[in-house]
Amino acid sequence: MEDIVGLCKRRGFIFQSSEIYGGYNGFYDYGPLGVELRNNIKQAWWRDFVQRRDDMEGLDSTIIMHPKIWKASGHVDGFSDPMVDCKESKLRYRADQLFFAPVIVEGEKIGYVSVVESIDQQEVAEKAAAEMKRKMAKQGELGPIELKEYTEAAPEEYELIPSPATGKPGSLTEPREFKLMFETKVGPLADDSATAYLRPETAQGIFANYKNIVDTGRVKIPFGIAQIGKAFRNEITPRNFIFRSREFEQMEIEYFIAPSADWKALHREWIDTCTDWLVSIGLPREGITEDIHPEDKLAFYSQATTDLMFDFPHGEQELWGIACRSDYDLKQHQEHSGKSMTIFDEATKEKYVPHVIEPSLGVDRTLLAVLTAAYTEDEVPNDKGKVEKRTVMKFSPKIAPVKAAIFPLLKNKPELVEVAEKLYKKLQRRWNVFYDASGAIGRRYRRQDEIGTPYGITIDFDTVEKDGTVTLRDRDTCEQRRVSEAELIEFLEEQIDG
Ligand code: GAP
Repeated sequence: MEDIVGLCKRRGFIFQSSEIYGGYNGFYDYGPLGVELRNNIKQAWWRDFVQRRDDMEGLDSTIIMHPKIWKASGHVDGFSDPMVDCKESKLRYRADQLFFAPVIVEGEKIGYVSVVESIDQQEVAEKAAAEMKRKMAKQGELGPIELKEYTEAAPEEYELIPSPATGKPGSLTEPREFKLMFETKVGPLADDSATAYLRPETAQGIFANYKNIVDTGRVKIPFGIAQIGKAFRNEITPRNFIFRSREFEQMEIEYFIAPSADWKALHREWIDTCTDWLVSIGLPREGITEDIHPEDKLAFYSQATTDLMFDFPHGEQELWGIACRSDYDLKQHQEHSGKSMTIFDEATKEKYVPHVIEPSLGVDRTLLAVLTAAYTEDEVPNDKGKVEKRTVMKFSPKIAPVKAAIFPLLKNKPELVEVAEKLYKKLQRRWNVFYDASGAIGRRYRRQDEIGTPYGITIDFDTVEKDGTVTLRDRDTCEQRRVSEAELIEFLEEQIDG
């Protein structure tokens, strides 16, 4: 993670928000390369899930909506996380990300250890337990350390579990519910009636517009409504770079199906479609796994939820949630708004409130997964044939921030520069390409490798004196071949837009 964060800052992908004022926890800004990568991810998603499908409609709803929407959806009353405070250090933890275990030596409980959720939490807890045994000079065998969530602690244990910040027991509070929605005021009055919320998910904007789209479009069941947009959550512990932040973006689909449809089969289809899409933008299939939520842990309205997990630097974590939400949301809005949410199904001649399958993906999390998969350190020969270490971002050409770099071999040869600039201008009309004339050609390649530009195009004397062909270099293999301009454009088209 440190390498990725370092590269993102050094090369202008991602900056901490408000950095000149010391930063602002849970907020990130996207720099020149980051915004390109982010836009490309969103465009690829929109193209594949909206424009290239006949059963999908697009939407862009507002961030602030009528507060009754959040009452109907259950967010006002129920969208919270369990929080625990350390009274001494003033640090705040999410109780479901704080783990504890009793330390038992030869059947005697000698105290408790606690750890914050991490990839090596078991190891950290075991070390702390061994240290406690050593300090207390206890003889005998240490029992197994069985970590439990702090939410599962018995009230009499709160006083005994040490704070991870101080290592001392007695300063942790009991878990309390912490509301995650950001509040704001709308209009000139600052009383309670003016309270509104920044949306914590884009999904409710879709449900709130479902009727508009059914009434104005030519949709027929099954069909989906897709939206990309910002969401805000006052996360207790924003962590792991852009993985969990307070302002982020979601790409969500609500896919409406008949209540009698084989929702299990459709759910499976969506899980496979989503996995294939992640692979299509460059994530390794073996890095993606499925986490099926156990039935007894499902929300009361949910029939099934499967999360696509990705192997992030901080461990295997949720990337894409794919939930079967029944007719819960539409029925809630029907009841609270008094407007009918039924649809007439031409095929079966039935009228009903449809059920919904919801694939919900975070843009920023996808970007972190893409950065993780792309980050590579390898060794390649330099101009003089000597093997050198390089850092290379192996982005898929579809989403790479810069698609190709155009280099005149020498910057002081006007005939090379003229052809290179002409080609640059031509390619720039279609793609984000980069022109670089300065420095040794090997150094220019290396700069592009580090930002993940898939192709280097060099204009040399053969281009201007012989056949007009250019050298096309592949970022990953470093192989070079000569191609004509027509071949070059056809190749780029296939790799970038295909
Ligand atoms: N409408 C359903 C919904 O919002 P969610 O599991 O809470 O479900 C969906 O969020 C996706 O949004 C997650 O899988 C994740 O990719 C992204 N996401 C959620 N909270 C996030 C946060 N604080 N920071 C970044 N991404 C987040």
